[in-house]
Amino acid sequence: MILITGSAGFIGHALTNVLAKAGKEVVGIDNLNDYYNPDLKWSRLADAGISREEVEASGEAVSTRFPNYRFRKLGLEDRHGMGKLFQDFSFVKVCNLAAQAGVRYSLTNPLAYVDSNVTGFVNVLENCRKHEIEHLVYASSSSVYGLNDKVPFAESDPVDQPASLYAATKRSNELLAHTYSHLYQLPTTGLRFFTVYGPWGRPDMAYSLFSDAILNGRPIKVFNHGEMSRDFTYVDDIVEGLRRVLVTPRPPQLGVPNRVYNIGNGSPVSLLNFIEIMERHLGVTAEKEYLGMQPGDVEKTFADTTALEEDYDYRATTDLDEGIGAFVKWYREYYKV
Ligand SMILES: NC(=O)c1ccc[n+]([C@@H]2O[C@H](COP(=O)([O-])OP(=O)(O)OC[C@H]3O[C@@H](n4cnc5c(N)ncnc54)[C@H](O)[C@@H]3O)[C@@H](O)[C@H]2O)c1
Repeated sequence: MILITGSAGFIGHALTNVLAKAGKEVVGIDNLNDYYNPDLKWSRLADAGISREEVEASGEAVSTRFPNYRFRKLGLEDRHGMGKLFQDFSFVKVCNLAAQAGVRYSLTNPLAYVDSNVTGFVNVLENCRKHEIEHLVYASSSSVYGLNDKVPFAESDPVDQPASLYAATKRSNELLAHTYSHLYQLPTTGLRFFTVYGPWGRPDMAYSLFSDAILNGRPIKVFNHGEMSRDFTYVDDIVEGLRRVLVTPRPPQLGVPNRVYNIGNGSPVSLLNFIEIMERHLGVTAEKEYLGMQPGDVEKTFADTTALEEDYDYRATTDLDEGIGAFVKWYREYYKV
């Protein structure tokens, strides 16, 4: 049985559907917070067969689409609730995707990051330790590379110069996981995701903000005057990476069963090129408002994915044009625009 935290989230929903469809026993949790419109989170749950009425009435529900998927509304920082969850179910593996995401919001709401990403993550680790979980896989982020300007970013690069509190909490996850692996032999694997996009994507991310502005005739904000690049990674590629890594941890290194891998496309795209691709798929030319760099942001991300390829024989393959096409198709259907 697998626990997926953040299962109403963008990546959690996609992973849950794939594992549940493959017949795995899955329990998902999410606190359904309003960092972005919770209706999207409920819609993702509905897509996975979870009834909003039932969750609102009793706090949990079994999927009507996948009888092997059960959802419980729960926050990671609820120490008692998390303890009970691990007692109620016999988890073998845990995939922690729940987190307070977003770089910009961490400037105005730092404590939300501490609650979910630090206190909440330690609750996950403590329960994994107590219940001798076989493998904890958790989401880290390319943002841990912070002010590092050597590209591509390799796992051996220094990660001690975070540019945002979000990045600092994600790096803290890696350090906390290492500690538990060292002290208690808990197998942990962190995956540093690089800008994930695709159907059911987050409304706070540039591709959604751009689509909303472009389709509603508003100018799009182009930060750092367009001098940015991102290693965009399609959500299905992330899910396939998670699925493979979850199967088994790699053997311990120096006696510690702890690993961290980049998972990215390995081919960064400039922001202006990205906008052109979006314009083509949306069929509209965007009006652009060129602005300076946002605090907390970094100019470029670029994943060296050799380690994941060597250890798990896996690399992301979806081409940006194809992925943006799938995103725009979903966006128009979901938002009816
Ligand atoms: N999307 C990306 O580009 C990206 C890049 C790097 C890392 N990540 C990481 O991947 C993970 C998933 O990201 P996502 O894009 O799916 O984000 P998301 O916000 O859509 O999903 C996270 C989910 O976790 C839930 N959540 C937040 N705090 C919680 C808490 N304390 N208890 C229970 N549930 C909680 C939210 O309600 C949300 O549904 C996160 O850890 C994020 O930091 C994402």
